[in-house]
Amino acid sequence: MSSEEAVSSTITDWLFIHSWWLLLPFIMLLVVAAFIVAFVLLLYMISPLISPKPLKLNGAHVVVTGGSSGIGKGIAIECYRQGAFITLVARDEEKLLRAKKEVEKYAINDKQVVLCVSVDVSSDYTQVENVIKQAQEKLGPVDMLINCAGTAISAKFEEMEVERFKVSNDN
Ligand SMILES: NC(=O)c1ccc[n+]([C@@H]2O[C@H](COP(=O)([O-])OP(=O)(O)OC[C@H]3O[C@@H](n4cnc5c(N)ncnc54)[C@H](OP(=O)(O)O)[C@@H]3O)[C@@H](O)[C@H]2O)c1
Repeated sequence: MSSEEAVSSTITDWLFIHSWWLLLPFIMLLVVAAFIVAFVLLLYMISPLISPKPLKLNGAHVVVTGGSSGIGKGIAIECYRQGAFITLVARDEEKLLRAKKEVEKYAINDKQVVLCVSVDVSSDYTQVENVIKQAQEKLGPVDMLINCAGTAISAKFEEMEVERFKVSNDN
């Protein structure tokens, strides 16, 4: 090997051994890309927690106990406005029919149905089970159950008569 070839070979060897830093920008680029991919994946995974998607109620069967007034009726209206089929559950049939008419005003399509079920949810379990089964036969399986049946009595504890207290607990 001539001296020129030896020098050239030495330089090539030196460059080969000491030029790893030339790869540094590519390595950094890879690291940054990996971080970006990981960040996007993380965002994708936690996005349902940051901005939960609204439930799709279109066509769903929603049963609302205590649906003939107050909070229950309000929720029933909101679900109906989103395309749900509603079963209103309460005791007073007239009140139920009035609520049904009110809820129906918010239909978004002509297939929607509001069913009324008159039953005391604090009484016989079998009776409640039967009426819910009947509702399911008409409107399909229950997709969502909203329990608002109850009575709120507003009074000071020490001033409340025992009977009224009992009613609020039984309901
Ligand atoms: N409004 C509030 O600020 C508030 C706050 C916290 C908690 N709550 C609770 O949320 C629930 C609803 O309150 P609300 O203000 O909407 O009362 P609401 O207007 O009096 O409505 C109660 C509904 O439940 C029905 N219901 C009561 N007892 C029933 C039973 N045994 N079986 C079946 N249906 C029954 C009622 O109809 P029928 O009487 O015809 O059965 C009615 O549809 C209550 O339990 C209340 O204590 C209310």
